[in-house]
Amino acid sequence: MVRQESINIWFENLAYTMVFIPMSEPGEYALWRSLDYRPTLATLPVDNLAPYLRRGQTALEIGCSRGQTTMWLGSRGLDVLGIDINGEAISQARRSAKISNVKAHFIEGDFLDQTDLGKFDLVLMIRVLTCFAEYTNWYALLSRSFDCIAGAGLIYIHDFVASPENDVYRERYREGTRRGWRTGNFAVPGKEGDIQFIAHHHSTEEIDEIMKPYEKVFLNFHDSLSLNGNACRMFEFLGKARVSSS
Ligand SMILES: C[S@@+](CC[C@H](N)C(=O)[O-])C[C@H]1O[C@@H](n2cnc3c(N)ncnc32)[C@H](O)[C@@H]1O
Repeated sequence: MVRQESINIWFENLAYTMVFIPMSEPGEYALWRSLDYRPTLATLPVDNLAPYLRRGQTALEIGCSRGQTTMWLGSRGLDVLGIDINGEAISQARRSAKISNVKAHFIEGDFLDQTDLGKFDLVLMIRVLTCFAEYTNWYALLSRSFDCIAGAGLIYIHDFVASPENDVYRERYREGTRRGWRTGNFAVPGKEGDIQFIAHHHSTEEIDEIMKPYEKVFLNFHDSLSLNGNACRMFEFLGKARVSSS
């Protein structure tokens, strides 16, 4: 009996070594190239942004997936570009824009590899930082998105907050920590109980770090649902880029 148990543990550890370790290497977000993202909440409305939008503003949505938000901005008269690493999602976004007759441009590509996207009045990232579980890439995403903002333009970030008070997530974070991952990283299970990807939930300190280069316009916290329908917390930040005086 004891022997069977230790064999089971050995197999479990082997499976984790095979599945987890390569996923926690830098560049792990690359698996989003082929992930079919169908969250419980298909879209997160960006209504709170409405008072800050003007016709003719330029906007970049990073991680735009099937392009719903990009098109919503396009339908309000903004000049919009959406980028996503997932080719199938971008094809779908282009088809939808054509069918709905909305003017929107889409690029399939890794945002971190782009050298000349230009500058925009508004840059958005919705549920994207969470995919950048590895700190160096997470930081690069933030700093390169800042570089894409024109003058004292705006950044809009909507993402997940660490919820250690939540029983489901507390266990997942613990498991991540046990494996030596960055605090707030955890494995997201797929429908078959397999592991889909590693996600990150943000601490208060990380939200402060995200906001540092910006003047805060608003910071809201709200309850939401995760990809798999678990209750979770989110933050919604709108900031105005601080322009250096030099
Ligand atoms: C969790 S989904 C969120 C999609 C959408 N923003 C939403 O809230 O429904 C994250 C998106 O970011 C995209 N993504 C991940 N890494 C990326 C990268 N390096 N460059 C561009 N897009 C990326 C994924 O393909 C995916 O569509």
